[in-house]
Amino acid sequence: MRPTLTEARDLDSRDTLAAFKAHFALPDGMLYLDGNSLGAQPRAARDALDATRDQWRDALVGGWNQGWFDAPERLGDLLAPLIGARAGEVLVSDSITLNLFKLLGYITECQGRARPVILSEGGNFPADGYIAEGFCRSAGFEHRLLPEGAPLETHLDTQVAVVVLSQVNYRTGQLRDMADTTRRIHAQGAEVIWDLAHSAGALAVDLQGSGARYAVGCTYKYLNGGPGAPGFLYVRGECQRAAWQPLSGWHGHTQPFAFEADYAPAAGMTRFRTGTHSALAYAPLEASLTLWQEVDIAALRAKSLALADLFRTCLTDLFEIHGIEDITPPPAQRGSQVGLIQREHGYAIVQALIARGVIGDYREPGLMRFGFTPLYLSHVDVWHAAEQFREVVESAEYRNPRFQTRTEVT
Ligand SMILES: Cc1ncc(COP(=O)(O)O)c(C=O)c1O
Repeated sequence: MRPTLTEARDLDSRDTLAAFKAHFALPDGMLYLDGNSLGAQPRAARDALDATRDQWRDALVGGWNQGWFDAPERLGDLLAPLIGARAGEVLVSDSITLNLFKLLGYITECQGRARPVILSEGGNFPADGYIAEGFCRSAGFEHRLLPEGAPLETHLDTQVAVVVLSQVNYRTGQLRDMADTTRRIHAQGAEVIWDLAHSAGALAVDLQGSGARYAVGCTYKYLNGGPGAPGFLYVRGECQRAAWQPLSGWHGHTQPFAFEADYAPAAGMTRFRTGTHSALAYAPLEASLTLWQEVDIAALRAKSLALADLFRTCLTDLFEIHGIEDITPPPAQRGSQVGLIQREHGYAIVQALIARGVIGDYREPGLMRFGFTPLYLSHVDVWHAAEQFREVVESAEYRNPRFQTRTEVT
C-alpha cells in the first residue's frame, strides 16, 4: 500500500527533530533532496557572514586575533563530538583533497616508508584515487586499486602501507562497517584513512569506538557549511607524533610568527594546517556547527532511514513498469541517500524534477541520487517529492527535448 499524505503528516507530528527545519532558509516551494551534494543554508549563517564582514571592515588585521586565526582548531573541537572524536583530534582545514595528501605523507613518514603500496578503492569518488595516484608519483610509492566489490583481503598484503576508503559510497550509498574493516586492515599492519564525505552529519560516525586512527571529510554536504566550506581531518590522539606532513606550510609551524628559516611542525593537529585560511569561509560553518551541537544523532539516523524508505515505498509500484532499478542498500548498510537507476532516461527525469522544484542529482551511468537530510526535510516534503516523481514518470514529461541538454554540473 502506498503511504498517504495523512500518514506522512502523522509521522511529522511525532518527529522530535521537526523544530530544526525553521533554522534553515530554503526557497519557497523547493523540495531539496540534494543535501548530500551541497547542504542548505542555516539561517544563522547570514548573520555570521555579516559579522565577519563587519569585523574585516572594523578590526582589519586585528580580526586575526579575534577568533580568525584559531578557527581551524576551534571548529575542529565543535565538529569532534559529531563524528565520535575527542577534543584536539580534529582540524577544520583545506579540503578533502589536500587533507588526504597530507595524511598519506604523514602516515608513511610515521611508518618509516617501510611499505611501498597505497591502496585505494575502485568505485569511490575519483578525487581519492587521483590523490593516491599523485601522492605515489611524487613520493615514490606504488598505487594499487581495489576493484569495486572485491573483498579487501584479495589486495591487502604486507606491501600495503595505507588503504583509502569511503565510509559511505557516493554513488550507491553503501555503508561500510568501520570497526570491522579498520580491525582487518590494522591486523595486516596497514593503516586506513576513512573518507567521511557522505557520513559526517548523515549518521552516527564513531571514530573512537571503531578504532579508526585517520579520517578526512567535508563540511559542505550534510554539515551545511556552505559552498566550498573547509574540509577536516582527524588523527587519533595516540597517533599524533612529531612527524611531518608533506604540505609543511607556515601555519603548521610551531612558531609561525617567529618567521624562522627552517620548518618545525607544531604540536597536535595544528601541524596539519597549511597556509592562510579564509576567515569568511569559517563563519557560516561555525554557525552551522553550533546548531549541530543540539542534534540528537540517533534520532537523526532513525529519521534519515525513515525518510528514505518513505520515498521508496511511495514509488515502488513504478519501478518495474518504467525500467527503474532501486539500488538503495538495506537500512543497516545505507548512508542517507536513495539511488534509482534508469539507464536511458535517468538524466532527463532528474532535469524534469528540477524544473518542478524537486532537486536531486544525477551520476553516470543512469543514476538518480536523492539525499535525505533530516534537519530540514519533513515526511510531508518527501511524500510530495515522490508524487512529483510519479507525475514526471507516468506522464513521460522527461521526454521533452529541454530536459535532454547536459549542464556542466549535474
Ligand atoms: C567521497 C568524496 N571524497 C572526496 C570528495 C572531494 O572533496 P573536495 O573537492 O572537497 O576535496 C568528494 C566530493 O564530493 C566526495 O564526495
